[in-house]
Amino acid sequence: LRVSGTHYRTIWIAESGTVRAIDQSRLPFELATIDLETLADAAQAIKTMVVRGAPLIGATAAYGMALAARSNPSDAHLAEAARTLQATRPTAINLLWALTRVRTVLAEVQPKERVDVAFREAAAICDADVEQCRLIGVHGLELIRGLAKTAGRRLNILTHCNAGWLACVDWGTALAPVYMAHDAGIPVHIWVDETRPRNQGAALTAFELGAHGVPHTVIADNLGGHLMQRGQVDLVIVGSDRTTAGADVCNKVGTYLKALAARDNGVPFYAALPASTIDWSLQAGSAVPIEERSPDEVTHITGRSSSGRIETVRLVPEGSTALNLAFDVTPARLVTGLITERGICSASRAGLQRLYPDLRAAQ
Ligand code: MRU
Repeated sequence: LRVSGTHYRTIWIAESGTVRAIDQSRLPFELATIDLETLADAAQAIKTMVVRGAPLIGATAAYGMALAARSNPSDAHLAEAARTLQATRPTAINLLWALTRVRTVLAEVQPKERVDVAFREAAAICDADVEQCRLIGVHGLELIRGLAKTAGRRLNILTHCNAGWLACVDWGTALAPVYMAHDAGIPVHIWVDETRPRNQGAALTAFELGAHGVPHTVIADNLGGHLMQRGQVDLVIVGSDRTTAGADVCNKVGTYLKALAARDNGVPFYAALPASTIDWSLQAGSAVPIEERSPDEVTHITGRSSSGRIETVRLVPEGSTALNLAFDVTPARLVTGLITERGICSASRAGLQRLYPDLRAAQ
């Protein structure tokens, strides 16, 4: 999407041939980029969340394999590189999906051809992600159009974390329908959960919606239920880091509570995701590995001070411990539907099988 008139993807190949990505640790205060020159750079960028969001983690890992091949294209080195990248973040299945895809094509060619093949495959993964997100937008747009028509007024949509273009290569998953609705002239307003502890909503979702001119309001994570009780939320759309074959949706911690509140208040709750986010090997969400991050992300908060400096300050008394589990699982029964690049289906095994008979059969 565009920022100040310039079109960006989150990751691309610069004219110099380097892999370049938006440095999301600097947003919303500065739109800076980072060059990834080595496998270690790519792994570090994923681990420290300079790049984040399930589809973008996958795309970066694919380029990480290409960078690894550039330094040493042997089988042993590539196997080690895949292990290094796989160990960066455990929850988003897109990481393993992209690594498997690149390793499969590399296994079929001689070492001397592997650099070119890996870069081509990483670029193909990026292009496919853009197209899948665009299609999610097309299908989600029809959902929003229908609800807006029934409501007969501006539609209030709540989202959690950042599942916009910054989480993908372009467009986003949960936000692609929002951008398309806004561009189609359908009046939408977005409630943006701040998304503690790392505040991806307040920092990233608010940044990208603002850059595109979409009306939005940042809210504390706990306000959503109250707004739903007062009829001020018409629709919830979230992303997903891993959706099981049984359609349980693992996403940023706090998503489950929004789904419970939505169910209690009769608000439709959708998850938007491409096929690369589906883990066909798992039936139940309870088996999804949940990332545990540093307690410092809970005990401290980072922002820009009035002097203009980026500063991190402590919120919690010295001596109190904190637990930082980064994701939770929303059971399929609380999910109204899944918005995918192939259309919208019920959040059920049967719904996914109907849309993806080929992928399911391949497992
Ligand atoms: O920890 P993050 O910022 O990588 O978590 C991101 C999310 O939870 C997104 O909702 C998810 O990746 C879907 S992205 C389109």
